[in-house]
Amino acid sequence: MNRTATILALVLVPMAVLAQDTTTVTSKRGMVVSTSSHASDVGAAILAKGGNAVDAAVATAFALAVTFPAGGNIGGGGFMVIQPARGTATTIDYRERAPFAATPTMYLGADGEIDRSLTASGYLAPGVPGTVRGLAMAHQKYGRLPWRDVVRPAAELAEGFELPEALALSLNRVVAGPMAPFPASVLAYGKPGGGEWQAGEVLHLPDLAKTLRSIAEEGPDVFYTGWIAEAIAQDMAKHGGLITREDLEQYRAVERAPIHGTYRGYDIIGMGPPSSGGTILVEMLNILEAFDLRSRPRYDATNVHLVLEAMRRGFLDRARWLGDSDFGEIPVARITSKTHAVEHAATIDLARASSSVALGEDIVTETYANEPEETTHFSVVDADGMAVSNTYTIEGGYGSFVVVPGTGFLLNNEMGDFNKKPGETNTRGDIGTPPNNIASGKRMLSSMTPTIVRKDGRTVLITGSPGGRTIINTVLSVVLGVTEFGLSGREAVDAPRINHNWLPDRGFIEAEALTSEVLARLEVMGHVIRVGERWQQGDASSIVIDPVTGIAYGAADRRGMDPKASVP
Ligand code: GLY
Repeated sequence: MNRTATILALVLVPMAVLAQDTTTVTSKRGMVVSTSSHASDVGAAILAKGGNAVDAAVATAFALAVTFPAGGNIGGGGFMVIQPARGTATTIDYRERAPFAATPTMYLGADGEIDRSLTASGYLAPGVPGTVRGLAMAHQKYGRLPWRDVVRPAAELAEGFELPEALALSLNRVVAGPMAPFPASVLAYGKPGGGEWQAGEVLHLPDLAKTLRSIAEEGPDVFYTGWIAEAIAQDMAKHGGLITREDLEQYRAVERAPIHGTYRGYDIIGMGPPSSGGTILVEMLNILEAFDLRSRPRYDATNVHLVLEAMRRGFLDRARWLGDSDFGEIPVARITSKTHAVEHAATIDLARASSSVALGEDIVTETYANEPEETTHFSVVDADGMAVSNTYTIEGGYGSFVVVPGTGFLLNNEMGDFNKKPGETNTRGDIGTPPNNIASGKRMLSSMTPTIVRKDGRTVLITGSPGGRTIINTVLSVVLGVTEFGLSGREAVDAPRINHNWLPDRGFIEAEALTSEVLARLEVMGHVIRVGERWQQGDASSIVIDPVTGIAYGAADRRGMDPKASVP
C-alpha cells in the first residue's frame, strides 16, 4: 500500500466504523431513540413529515408493537411523560387494569401458595390492555398529524420486515418454548413450514397488519368496542380467561399530573401512581443529595454503598405504600419530600450495610434462605423542543404468549405485577401489602420510570428503561451520570449499573464497575453482591440536550436488541 492509500485507509476505516454506529447521533431537528431500528426510523420519518414529538412517539409505539414483539405492544399498557415546547409537563397513564371479575386471591393454589404458572403465561395472566387508548389520548390532545398517518407505518411494517439477528434468535427460542401451547401464537410468529428464523429473513404478520390498518382507519374504538374487542372476549371466554367486552368498553386512559422533584438544581419530572417509578426515583435522588458523591470516583466503595442503601430505602417505601391511587391514598408528597429523605439518610451507616428485614420489620411477614420482565422505552424530541419519554410493556418477554386468533397481537401478563398473596411480604421479594393487592378494575403497580430532566426551564435529559423492578435503578444511574457526574449521554447510558430492590437483600452490579478491592470492601461492609455481565434488562434509550446550543445527543443503549437513534 502506498503512503496515500495508507493514509486514506487510516482515515476511511474509522469513518466507516463511525458511520455504522447508529446508536449515537446528534441533531437540532429532533430524533427518536428506541431499541428497534425500524421503529426509530418510523418515528423519525413522522418528524420529517412535520409531526411533533407526540406524533412521532405514537408512530414509534405502534411500530415497536410490530418489530419488538417481546415488549412493544398494543396488547399491554404503559406511561407517557410529555413536556411541550412551552408550558407544563403532563403524563398519560395507560396502565392495564384488572378485569372486573378479578379477586385478591385468584393466583393462590389449593395449598394457599402462589401458583406462579397462572401469571407466567396463558389466559388468566392478562390485564385489560391500555396501549391503544393511551396512544389515542396522547395523540388527540397533543399530536398534530392525522391519526391514520401515525398508525399506518406500523401496519406497513407488519406486511413484512427484515429480522434483526437478536429478534430471529429470540423468536426461535420462544416459538419452540413457552409459545408452543398457543397455536395462534405459533402461527403468527413461527417460520412458515417450520424451521428456524435466520437474521435478514422477512417476517410477515398479516393479521397484525389487518388489526393495525383497522385501528388506523376506524380509530381506537375498534379495539375496545369493535371487532377486535369481540375477538379478545371470545378467545378469553373459550379458554377460561376473565376479560370481557365490558372490561374493554370501560377501559379509560387517564391524564395525570406528573411527579416533580429536584436534584442539585435540576428538575425531575416523572410518572406517578400507579407507577412507583417517578415517586421512588425522586425519593432515592433526595436521599443521595445528602451525600457528596462527586467528591469520590463514581464506583468507589463508599459511593456504591450509598447508592445501594438509597435503593434499599426507596424500594422499602415502594413495598410499604405504593399502588393504584384511584383505590386508596398514596402518601406521594411525604415520600418525595426532602425531610423524609433526610430521615432516611440519617439511618445510613457509612461503614455498614443495613439489613432490609430489620428496616422493614413492620411489613416483612416471612423470611426465606425476580420477576421476569420485558418492557421497552423510547425517547423523542422534536425540532421545537417538545419531549416525550414513553415506557410501555406486556410484562414478561412476549407477555402471556397468547396471540388472539385473527388479530396477530400478543396479550400481556401484567396481572403478575399485583401482590399475589395478600399479607405475605417475604425475603424472596414477594410483597403482600394492601396498596397493590388485586381488586376488580384496579391498575397493578408498575416500576416504569419514563423521566424528563430539566434545568432552568429547558429539557436536558429524556430517559427510561425496561427491567421490572430494576427500571427505577437504571434510570437513577442515567440521571446521576448526567446530573451528578457530568457525563455525556453516551457515557451515562454505557456506565455500569447497580441494582438493589430492598428484598431479596442482595445487590447486583455490572462487572466493569468494580475492582476486586472495591468488591471486597463492600462485602466487609455486609453487602451481598452478585456481579454480572452487561445487564440485558436495562435498555435506557436516552437523549441528552445541551441547554445552550439546543443540540440533542441521542444515545441508544447498546445492551438492546437492535438499538438505533434516528434523525429526520
Ligand atoms: N411490568 C413491569 C412494570 O410495569 O414495572
